[in-house]
Amino acid sequence: MKPCAPDHIASITPYPPGKPIEELEREYGISGSIKLASNENPIGPSPRAIEAIQAAVRKLNRYPDGSGFYLRRKIADKFGLPFDGILLGNGSNELIELVIRAFMGPGDEVMMPAPSFLLYRLVVQWMGGRPVSIPLKGLKVDLDAMADAVTERTKVIFLTNPNNPTGTVIGRRDFDLFLSRIPERIVLVLDEAYIDFNRDPDTPSGFEYIDGAGPAVVVLKTFSKAYGLAGLRIGYGAMPVPVAGFLNRVRQPFNTNSLAQAAALAALDDEEFFDLTRKMTWDGLQYLYGEVEKLGLKYVVSQANFFLIEVPCESKRVFEAMLRRGVIIRSMASYGMDNFIRINAGLPEENERFVRTFSEVLAEIKQSA
Ligand SMILES: Cc1ncc(COP(=O)(O)O)c(C=O)c1O
Repeated sequence: MKPCAPDHIASITPYPPGKPIEELEREYGISGSIKLASNENPIGPSPRAIEAIQAAVRKLNRYPDGSGFYLRRKIADKFGLPFDGILLGNGSNELIELVIRAFMGPGDEVMMPAPSFLLYRLVVQWMGGRPVSIPLKGLKVDLDAMADAVTERTKVIFLTNPNNPTGTVIGRRDFDLFLSRIPERIVLVLDEAYIDFNRDPDTPSGFEYIDGAGPAVVVLKTFSKAYGLAGLRIGYGAMPVPVAGFLNRVRQPFNTNSLAQAAALAALDDEEFFDLTRKMTWDGLQYLYGEVEKLGLKYVVSQANFFLIEVPCESKRVFEAMLRRGVIIRSMASYGMDNFIRINAGLPEENERFVRTFSEVLAEIKQSA
């Protein structure tokens, strides 16, 4: 066998996959570990979503509704959006792929801040495009540099608000100014995976821009974070109707499954769960900021459900030492930020365990220095 992928595929560094918790525990001889590495909802899925899944299970012999009619109608009604401009995806990840597939040709450019969500770059590479990464400036998205870097070949621009991994936000004035500098032919993707956790009133809501002048704005939302449904893989995009028409041309007919559609529909109605998630996240972040300050470390104030901590050594070392003690966090080395770790807010007891373990690890590192 001599499989041979084209150069643009062979040269890709694959997305770093996490191992299942059970495997890590076996490998490290530990049990009862906690995971604060993937910005998930620590509470669990909404009870209403679980009920809806149980009811939908009985119809698994049927294909799902390929148009996602009921969920799209609910989203349209709840947020006052045009029904035909809403598209469901197998996680918002799939919508990232659909936008690139629909609008980027071979050799075209797609722009994104660096670091930002790793998938943008990866998908562009899969499809033979050229990712153009614009470094952050002081941990914030450098919108001026991005606007300056637009060329004839730029087809899509990704912005994440709040940004992953920094948790910082783009303010309304800066966003408006940026939009005014971007040619109308470009598709601007505003990935709002973490917007439900934002508390900065100056942050623009992407929904307000969908029918605006200037470039087409595609807003991406996910049920994986505040709605607690990461395992089901369901997200959506809200966009101008003609843009949805292009994405529909490159979408698999049954791209989201029936359990995911039913659960998301129920989760949208569960305001109690949504409010609890946000309160727990905000309280958790406040507690963690205070404790990190007591440890004498710097951190980045975040509008998402996670935040960055600057560590006094290579972050991989902290990651390994935490893992050995059963606390799974994210080293930012793969994002090119060697001295940062990222954690999401967990349950109160998980946050406390993080702090205890982190103090031990820092003491160990100091001792060995
Ligand atoms: C910025 C950003 N966008 C999108 C996603 C993916 O969300 P989904 O689970 O809906 O595919 C993530 C997941 O971590 C993310 O950080």
